[in-house]
Amino acid sequence: MSIKVLIGTGDQEIAGALRASLAELADFEVIGVERTSADVLAIVTSENDLDVVLIDEEIGPQPAPDLARDIAMRRPHGAVVLLSGRVDEEALTRALEAGARGVVARRPSLEELQSRITAAAEWSRGMRRWIGSGPAEPLGGRRGKVIAFAGAKGGTGATTLAVQMALAASTARRTVCLVDMDLQSGDIPSYLDMVHRRSIVDLAGVAHEITGPMLADALFVHQDGPHVLLAPAEGERAEDVSSIATRQILGALRSRYDVVIVDCGSFMTEGSVSAIEIADRVVLTVTPDLPCLRAAKRMVHLWGRLQIRKDDEITPVLTKLNRSSEIQPDFAARILGLTPAKATIPPSFKALERAINNGTLSKVDDDKFRKAVIQLGTELGAVSPTGDGSSIQTKAEAR
Ligand SMILES: Nc1ncnc2c1ncn2[C@@H]1O[C@H](COP(=O)(O)OP(=O)(O)OP(=O)(O)O)[C@@H](O)[C@H]1O
Ligand SMILES: [Mg+2]
Repeated sequence: MSIKVLIGTGDQEIAGALRASLAELADFEVIGVERTSADVLAIVTSENDLDVVLIDEEIGPQPAPDLARDIAMRRPHGAVVLLSGRVDEEALTRALEAGARGVVARRPSLEELQSRITAAAEWSRGMRRWIGSGPAEPLGGRRGKVIAFAGAKGGTGATTLAVQMALAASTARRTVCLVDMDLQSGDIPSYLDMVHRRSIVDLAGVAHEITGPMLADALFVHQDGPHVLLAPAEGERAEDVSSIATRQILGALRSRYDVVIVDCGSFMTEGSVSAIEIADRVVLTVTPDLPCLRAAKRMVHLWGRLQIRKDDEITPVLTKLNRSSEIQPDFAARILGLTPAKATIPPSFKALERAINNGTLSKVDDDKFRKAVIQLGTELGAVSPTGDGSSIQTKAEAR
């Protein structure tokens, strides 16, 4: 099926050149060229069968970023690509903030045009298939697994593990939503090298009536598979995410994804407490040192006293643990009075540092670390529940 493109530009020369380029490429169909923002919006609203809207940054009378925003509001799965005089990081950030999927030069090369439009169209079609347009009711009684990750203390690797688990589950062909519920200091964007203007706060106010398009608008689709719901950029907005809103949002996500992975951080807010309450599995990341084990114990007791979660429903996971660590799992189990996961996560400082610095967390170059994540995922039922992870490893390596 050809990719249907609408061009929005008042510049006839650019319109002609784009039309000619797209005609040269197989699989593209220009459904029209509109010269003003109002005309573009009219077509977007009335035309169902549209994959990508190319908007010239010099279109008027409405400025292009505002037009992109309007399109995103009316048609959350519509992919907008901005035609820009300059294609650099700043232009891309501006475009993403306006809800566009990318930027392409006003006079692009054939290859550039093809790759940008194809990527945007794939996203749009994926979103349409995925989200549908109805309300976010449970689909056929489907109930995905919610797995909450909390840190016994700051820096124990909760976010790293949540992100890696989401990537491993996606590689294992599960549909995955990663939710940043560390509302005051969520840092998933820097781990996944992504920019997105929407957050869970945008859903909190309408949580009782979440629809598919609302989810589509709020979620970021990561190239490696997981859909991501971010924490607000302003930590003080954590208060906007109430307990009831959290339950409704996670309920809507659970009905649409096989696995919902929630990073709850180590600081409890109304939202993170609710996620821990309703999760199917609660993972507590603990490093092998006494201060952290004591912090874990305090946290588990606190959850018990407040009737958030019973002790035996919590799975501690030892992170940054190797054979030479003084504290080993059996000792940790005695201190905690809980049975830790069989899988432990080895230290992988260099490979993680490289992956974070290069924004390639999905390709951590450390077999031992990756296998440990898959082993834990299998224990938690996040990756193929019956597999031993070996086939998943192969797929991951094939990327
Ligand atoms: N298995 C590991 N081996 C080595 N370093 C790790 C490991 N897991 C996490 N780290 C590193 O530890 C630091 C903290 O990790 P991370 O942000 O995942 O922890 P956190 O528990 O989410 O912390 P925060 O309290 O800030 O949310 C990061 O620099 C990360 O790269
Ligand atoms: Mg964290």
